This record gives sequence, C-alpha cells and structure tokens, in this order.
Amino acid sequence: MTSKQKNSAVRPATGRLGILTPGLGAVATTFMAGVESIRRGRSKPIGSLTQMATIRLGKRTDNRSPLIKDFIPLASLDDIVFGAWDPIPDDALTAARKAGVLDERDLAPVAEFLQAITPMPAVFDNHYVTRINGANVKKGKNKRELGEALRKDIRDFKAKHALDRLVIVWCASTEIYLKPGPQHATIAAFEKAMESNDDQIAPSMLYAWAALMEGVPFCNGAPNLCVDIPALIELANEKGVPISGKDFKTGQTWLKTVIAPGIKARMLGLKGWYSTNILGNRDGEVLDDPASFKTKEESKLSVLHTILQPDKYPDLYKDFSHVVRINYYPPRGDNKEGWDNIDIVGWMNYPMQIKVNFLCRDSILAAPIVLDVALFSDFAHRAGMKGIQEWLSFYYKSPMTAAGLQPEHDLFIQQTKLKNTLRHLMGEEQITHLGLEYYA
Ligand SMILES: NC(=O)c1ccc[n+]([C@@H]2O[C@H](COP(=O)([O-])OP(=O)(O)OC[C@H]3O[C@@H](n4cnc5c(N)ncnc54)[C@H](O)[C@@H]3O)[C@@H](O)[C@H]2O)c1
Repeated sequence: MTSKQKNSAVRPATGRLGILTPGLGAVATTFMAGVESIRRGRSKPIGSLTQMATIRLGKRTDNRSPLIKDFIPLASLDDIVFGAWDPIPDDALTAARKAGVLDERDLAPVAEFLQAITPMPAVFDNHYVTRINGANVKKGKNKRELGEALRKDIRDFKAKHALDRLVIVWCASTEIYLKPGPQHATIAAFEKAMESNDDQIAPSMLYAWAALMEGVPFCNGAPNLCVDIPALIELANEKGVPISGKDFKTGQTWLKTVIAPGIKARMLGLKGWYSTNILGNRDGEVLDDPASFKTKEESKLSVLHTILQPDKYPDLYKDFSHVVRINYYPPRGDNKEGWDNIDIVGWMNYPMQIKVNFLCRDSILAAPIVLDVALFSDFAHRAGMKGIQEWLSFYYKSPMTAAGLQPEHDLFIQQTKLKNTLRHLMGEEQITHLGLEYYA
C-alpha cells in the first residue's frame, strides 16, 4: 500500500473527543488540570510523546523528523471533554486539593474548570477495594444491570457534550487480586456471571464491558485484570475496538525497564534486585491492603524475568532474587521515594552494586501517560485497529499480549515498536535502528 492510500485510510479526528475516567483521584485530576493548563498556555506537555516527541521518517540523510502530532491525525487538546465516575462525590477541584499533587498556584487558574467536573455515580463494591468508602454509588439488582447503567452514562455523556468519539481510561483504585477463571472465558460465560452476581466479576470489568459494548476504546492504568480476560478481549475484537493495559509504567518500574536492558546488553550478571518504596497518597493506602498489594506485586515482579531471560542465560540470571515492597507512609503524600539496590556480577564473578534513590512524583509521571494512551487509542480506533494494542506496551508495567505470548518489557524495544506502528499505519518505511537481534 502506498503512503497516500494508508494515510487516507485513517479517519480524521473531526469533532470532539470525550475522555472518561473511572476514578477521579490523584492521577485523573492531575491529568485533567494539566491538559487545561496546557490549553491555556500556562504549561508545556512535558512527558507526553503525542505532544512533544518527533518521529524520524526515511533515511537519516532525509532530514524528516516531524512531531508525532503533525505526522498522524490526533485529536487536538482543544477538542477534549472530560468526565469521570467515582464513589467519592468530590468534584475534580476538591479531589485535586485532597490529592495534594498540584500546588494551589497551579490549581487556582483552572479552579472553575475543575469544579465543573463532577463524578457520575460509580459501580463500586468494598469487596474489591477495601480501604475506600463513598456514597456516590449506583444501585442495581445485579451486575448486568449495573453494566447497563454504565452504558447509559456513556451514551448520555456523548449526547450531552455533542461528542464525536470517546475513550475510557481506568484511573481508579487497584482492586484485589483475581485470577482468570471460567467466568471470564467467553462472552456468554461473562454475561451469565454478570446476571448471577458472581464475585469473580469485578467493577473494573463492568466498566470495560460497557465501554466495549458502546464501541469505546478502553485503557487500563491499574494492575487488576479488568479488560485482560478472554471474554473481553473477544468482545473487543468482535466490536472492532482497541484495548490496552495493564498498570501505568511510571516510577520504579519505568527505571527498571531502562536499567535491566542495559545490564543485559553488556552481558553482566544479576544476583538480586531489591526495591522498596514509601508512598503516602490514597493509592498507597489502598495498596497497604495485602489483597490489593498482591495485584500490584504480580505486576511489578514480572518485568525482570522477561527482560533478562534466565532460561536463555542461566550463567547470568538463574535464580536472581527480586523483592518489591511498598510501604504506606502518610507524611510523604504523592511524592514517592523509591530505593533500588541492584547486585550485579562482572568479569571473574566480581560483585558490584548499583543504588538508585528516586524521589519521584507518581501522578506527575502518570498524567502524560493517560493523555497519550487516550489519544493513541482514539487514533488506533480511527485507523481500524482492534483488540490488544501491543504497541502501547511502552506505557504499561504488565503489557497485555495475545494468549501464549510473552510481553515485551524493554522500554527501548517498546519505543521502537510504538514508532514503527505509527510509521506502518501512515504508510512509511519501518526503522529498526535498535539492532533488535541483540535481544532475541
Ligand atoms: N500514580 C501512578 O504513578 C500510578 C502508576 C501506575 C498505576 N497507577 C494506578 O492508577 C490508579 C489511580 O491512582 P491514584 O493515585 O489516582 O489513586 P487515588 O486513590 O488518588 O484515586 C483513585 C480513585 O478511584 C476511585 N475508585 C475506586 N474504585 C472505583 C470504582 N469502582 N469506580 C470509580 N472510581 C473508583 C477512588 O474513590 C479514588 O478517588 C491506581 O489503581 C494506581 O495503582 C498509578
């Protein structure tokens, strides 16, 4: 296909795009406040590829490196309309103040805008998130009815704001650990389980189901299963809707997926990697519950094994120990502190250590990811893509993959995959300047 043919195959981003978030907490409000601040020219979209990154096209000597947003037809920030669901009835301004991420001097100029965003009643159940209590909750005779109520919210929101398209990004609390079971195996089994109020159907799954039934792309920023079950993957394919997840790759795990490929690229060994965090926001409080932490732990632990491939390199990576801890420590608020102690091994087995002390701001790192996954998912939808969007793995700690495939965790391979997907969809040559054979 020629470049021109492919280009015209992507539907243009005409009209307004709604971005709905289940969850109106630290991440969602930082995202919304930031987009509005950028729209008013008060800040730059730092951390966002869709707004700031360029993409090389053709040979290096061609000198063609447009901004991604000038290369592909993305929705403009001015066309975005925000909405949310949350069991806590606070508007986005109150929620942002409580989250304590942004200073008052940054909130004041967008205060009125944030105040106008009030959460719709949530599908929420304390069984899945134990540390949160809120009255802004939907009632229904069973989970099917609750899912239908979410579908109606989506349709009403679209009509009220005269939207052309929508995307949903899960920015709500991490739910307890659930394993995929027979209830999640097929669409029919899933819908039956909704009707019988099966406790294997978590609220996050109902949001994902409602989105897909309404033809709305769905992105999962938390580690809970949510859309990552066979029934919903099947539904996404059937409805022709893009999905992606799980768990935004922000602080410590982001650095892990930068450092580990570096250690491996030099064929240095690893004896152990100890990661600990102190975190004082509500997310930290939810993760203080062992059931929610188990979900997060699974997501954080999987990264190193897939990058280092101990089966292929037993002399370097067999039996390394990997420990991840999250400690809830209220005084720190959203400003997480992470420590990593990495025991590596070099020539003639001599041990060395790397220490990383990362004083990061979780929601400041997560907000541009919400923007990018929303805009890229909307673009993918218009380009006719459906099902799991592996090229968005770049943004996730536990990337969703087709059944039986290992996810790709190396940030730089993920980046190449993302940019090559954009080149491919726009009919440009793919560039493999990374020398992917090193990682095979
Ligand atoms: N901040 C980061 O860097 C980062 C990185 C990766 C993943 N995440 C995940 O993103 C999510 C949001 O993080 P946060 O810091 O904003 O947390 P938060 O506690 O500030 O906000 C979460 C909000 O979700 C609401 N909620 C809970 N269950 C809900 C439901 N069923 N429907 C609608 N709303 C619901 C809560 O009431 C709360 O307001 C968490 O799951 C977190 O693990 C965050």
